[in-house]
Amino acid sequence: MIVGSIKEDLALEKRISITPETAKNLMGLGLRVHIEKDYANHLGLDDSKYRDVGVEIKSSANEVSKTSDLIIKVNCPSENEINILKENTILVGMMNPSKNKNQIDKIMNKKIKIFSLELLPRITRAQSMDVLSSQSNLAGYRAVIDCVAEFEKSIPMMMTAAGTVPAAKVLVIGAGVAGLQAIATAKRLGAIVSATDVRVASKEQVESLGGKFLMVEQYEDMETKGGYAKEVSEDYKKKQAEMMKEALKKNDIVICTALIPGKPAPRILTEELVKLMKPGSIVYDLAAEQGGNSAFSEPGKINTIDGIKIIGVKSLMNSLPLTASSLYAKNLFSFIRNLYSREKKIFNINFEDEIIEKSMIKEI
Ligand code: NAI
Repeated sequence: MIVGSIKEDLALEKRISITPETAKNLMGLGLRVHIEKDYANHLGLDDSKYRDVGVEIKSSANEVSKTSDLIIKVNCPSENEINILKENTILVGMMNPSKNKNQIDKIMNKKIKIFSLELLPRITRAQSMDVLSSQSNLAGYRAVIDCVAEFEKSIPMMMTAAGTVPAAKVLVIGAGVAGLQAIATAKRLGAIVSATDVRVASKEQVESLGGKFLMVEQYEDMETKGGYAKEVSEDYKKKQAEMMKEALKKNDIVICTALIPGKPAPRILTEELVKLMKPGSIVYDLAAEQGGNSAFSEPGKINTIDGIKIIGVKSLMNSLPLTASSLYAKNLFSFIRNLYSREKKIFNINFEDEIIEKSMIKEI
């Protein structure tokens, strides 16, 4: 069986799905690997790095598609890419099904089995395949680095002969994967960090990283049985806004990461709340592409309102494509290892397996 990968549209996506390391691992399972010529040149990985581990380099995306039984990608294929996909094959990637309904319909019409790794169940056995965690963890780290670069003051407290510089204060809204890494990174740089979340369970995690937890008092836990957040009521929003007013006046950097799976991002920072911040402060909205946690946030833009910079994030993984690709490719390898039967030498679509059952797109 052959696993193939074609180049992404570099104007939109710099990550890749197969690294020389994961190509070697795939071949270790007994699979063959085909990639398109100049597949990862933009990351400093020329074809020879792949050829050296036994990968076959094909002259075009069409050649890869024609010869492969399973195609791995980062994003959902474009119309042009769909045209070259071979019928009755398998496609694995981050398909973002709610956004790409038309493309997915067309791919399904070609009797291609589509696996979208954002749909994986969050169970222990699927942890090594969990693309949301691997990418969001990096996003939390990168959020802090971007804020530091935009912030016109220093972060740690410094006691110098010329006087003392106070530590910057960072507030993280949403203490999930990205939020917890943002807390850890900001702490390492010497910031005073606080965080809030609707899930009570996150209090302990925030505190274990040295952050202060801000909680909306007298409210039930807003966590679902699956461990995600529930959508909050208008009353909760009012109480949350009230609680955050003082924090927003004091904090220099606010990193927004709040998310409810399958829903638009919750709007937490209203115009009124943002304007409470000091001039020179920063709001960094990781959820900008999902509608934004903050007023004034637009994907890919920095808007300055009353001296407060509101940074709307877009395609953040393109800022660290090597690390993001290395983890994403490992996630894909773990998924394919689970899908492939070494004895039968075929891809084994076993619906008894929760990982396969949940990640496969059945209808749209
Ligand atoms: P996650 O699901 O692990 O965490 C989200 C957290 O927000 C949860 O802890 C949840 O309880 C909390 N939350 C939900 N509603 C809330 C509310 N009203 N108030 C306070 N907290 C609330 O999500 P993850 O993986 O950490 O991602 C965070 C955000 O970063 C998402 O919007 C995600 O799409 C975005 N992201 C963006 C990337 C990019 O390249 N633009 C890359 C990776 C993540």
